[in-house]
Amino acid sequence: MSALVWLPFSPDDLDLDPEIRSALRFEVVESVGAHHEASIDEVEVWVPPYGFDDVDLSLPARMGSLRLIQTLTAGVDHIASAVPSGVTLCNGRGIHEASTAELALALTLASLRGIGGFVRAQDRGEWAWSWQRALADRRVLILGYGAIGAAIEQRLAPFECEVVRVASRARDGVHGIDELPGLLPDADVVIVIVPLTPATRGLVDAEFLARMRPGALLVNVGRGPVVDTDALVAALDTGRITAALDVTDPEPLPPDHPLWRAPGVLISPHTGGSTSAMWPRAHRVVAAQLTRYAAGDPLVGVISR
Ligand code: GLV
Repeated sequence: MSALVWLPFSPDDLDLDPEIRSALRFEVVESVGAHHEASIDEVEVWVPPYGFDDVDLSLPARMGSLRLIQTLTAGVDHIASAVPSGVTLCNGRGIHEASTAELALALTLASLRGIGGFVRAQDRGEWAWSWQRALADRRVLILGYGAIGAAIEQRLAPFECEVVRVASRARDGVHGIDELPGLLPDADVVIVIVPLTPATRGLVDAEFLARMRPGALLVNVGRGPVVDTDALVAALDTGRITAALDVTDPEPLPPDHPLWRAPGVLISPHTGGSTSAMWPRAHRVVAAQLTRYAAGDPLVGVISR
């Protein structure tokens, strides 16, 4: 009997070998309606819709045959707690590296070069000439050296800056997170791309921010709750550091939130992965993963829990 896969897009988007395709059955399910009840118990592989709020967390417990959840997101913090034991959870490794790394660079450059101020001056018809900070000759600390961290480093390479890599555990060429207190005072730019876990929630707190060197830039393209928002607003208010954030806590940031108006902050609305680069990569990643699944080969992006 072929394995049932629930997909949030047409299986025609997947370039699958005919033999693999015949080992799978597909249902396109963007949101679950009454007509899906008949098959819910047969779903073996579930690819939830892209997004964080649209995922029905009550579903996995009702999918009696579920073996694999394959997300289209890089982060899995929105779904991890709903994954039954014995079910494999894989993230969208390979989908978001290019887009998110591109935004990390865009935010870093825009912030250092004062683009936000120029846009505001342009709105007033004002020629606001000023000296700005360059990325060249800076030391950039990448906090979270996984696939996206490595993609950020690749894109930083031509900018004549030095890169310091930090991950949860030290390995060759990568510092362990326990070394952060000694590394932070020497970094001009800190780019945060750690996943949100109990260990990283609130990692960027008042003490972390106080260790950053005066004039340094904090860039967050990971998850909002990794940063203590109140501590960040307090640090920005002193003018000691600046920040560029694609993610915030809370999200969406309410219109009257003080973070919007803190000095030296540039904010984008959690758009790191949501670009034209996403769907072609999502289709390739899902096709490759289903091919591995059907062939019984080891899966990619398995989240250990
Ligand atoms: C976006 O934030 C993602 O996790 O894919």
